[in-house]
Amino acid sequence: MNYSEKVMDHFMNPRNVGEIEDASGVGTVGNAKCGDIMKVYLKIEDGIVIDAKFKTFGCGAAVATSSMATEMIKGKTIQDSLKITNKAVMEALDGLPPVKVHCSCLAEEALHAALWDYAKKNNIVIEGLKEPVDDISEHENIAQED
Ligand code: FES
Repeated sequence: MNYSEKVMDHFMNPRNVGEIEDASGVGTVGNAKCGDIMKVYLKIEDGIVIDAKFKTFGCGAAVATSSMATEMIKGKTIQDSLKITNKAVMEALDGLPPVKVHCSCLAEEALHAALWDYAKKNNIVIEGLKEPVDDISEHENIAQED
């Protein structure tokens, strides 16, 4: 299996590993099929994601995609952060092997879960954000490429 240099870099030197103590939103998502779990913390101020961190019990591709996804979301408005799809993250990493595409969905869903948590805590509705699932393996179709 071939991984791009960017995937290897984000796997070997993951950015934003850890937690944010006073996070504005926290999201946890798992994939029961592979047993991997992802937790994302977001700090949001004035509608902007000013910090993002993650912790994962996941494979190398899950580490690399959450490292990249948390880098990409920092500085974004809430609406723009919804554009950070697993595809956008994979593109930024120069691609993932097809059998690892589902790992990038774990990162996307965990980001969404953290945004959902933020919205719930603040009694707001984030347009276009769907209620996240706890286990993405039940929604494997979102892991398929077009
Ligand atoms: Fe489970 Fe990659 S194999 S997230």
